[in-house]
Amino acid sequence: MAGVKRVNTRPRAILRVEDLSFSFRREGISTLVLDGVSFDVYPGELLCLVGPSGVGKSTALRAIAGLARPDRGNVVLETFPQDGARDFGFVFQDPRLLPWRRVVANVEYGLEGLLRSKAERRERAMQALELVGLRDKARNWPYQLSGGQKQRIGLARALALHPALLLMDEPFSALDPATRHGLQDELLAIKAKSRTAIVFVTHDMDEATYLADRILLLGGQPASIVRQIRIDTAHPRQRRVQASEAADASLEAELHRFFKDGTNTKRKDVSSDN
Ligand SMILES: Nc1ncnc2c1ncn2[C@@H]1O[C@H](COP(=O)(O)OP(=O)(O)O)[C@@H](O)[C@H]1O
Ligand SMILES: [Mg+2]
Repeated sequence: MAGVKRVNTRPRAILRVEDLSFSFRREGISTLVLDGVSFDVYPGELLCLVGPSGVGKSTALRAIAGLARPDRGNVVLETFPQDGARDFGFVFQDPRLLPWRRVVANVEYGLEGLLRSKAERRERAMQALELVGLRDKARNWPYQLSGGQKQRIGLARALALHPALLLMDEPFSALDPATRHGLQDELLAIKAKSRTAIVFVTHDMDEATYLADRILLLGGQPASIVRQIRIDTAHPRQRRVQASEAADASLEAELHRFFKDGTNTKRKDVSSDN
């Protein structure tokens, strides 16, 4: 076709994490936990950061959100600041709801510095509750909710911020399997609707292979990204129970090896378009 010029460029990252290093200091002793963690996140992507317990996943997420100050490295958010929106929405393993506020007021809490009008805050909170399917619980108190519902309120609270990036730290790991699976499916549905980029931390490789567009394995002491796995399988994916014969057996074997001796995994250079 005349006049059409094709240029092969990579899609633009929404977040760039560059050479992040982090150490804890206690009683004059400094322990290096993260060393040279680098990765990109692309618009609309669900990126799972996976690694054994204690490797430094939460530390990495907190450093990205600006909740902990790294020794070295940069976190670059490549978005225009939006009115009435935050850069990051954070979902914790424990939903941390305020027991003296009704559900809708818990969701509104983070909006108080963001939207001036009370009516706007209410509308935004109700939209977020709608997204997680709990609009009818708006007037309830936190103690009247199940564990799964509380965690969905935690998700609604983050979504209400209209964040450029959603950061989730093992958000479903305290829930029973049936509830966890339900919330995983709900997250995928929300992601399809909102197109928010998500960095999802988990130590559960089944959860990661079920959810992720891309998995980054965090391993070593100090930790860095040792492996990147892209997963192109369309949703809904089979869960591992039925999937074990059909799924990619070599990937599964590799992940098992990683978790068995993850902290000994040799560092491999990871390019962002593996
Ligand atoms: N406040 C702290 N002071 C000292 N060491 C810490 C502190 N918080 C975490 N650590 C250590 O840093 C390492 C990484 O912790 P963390 O990021 O919570 O791991 P993960 O989320 O992967 O389980 C662990 O070895 C942990 O013991
Ligand atoms: Mg953690």
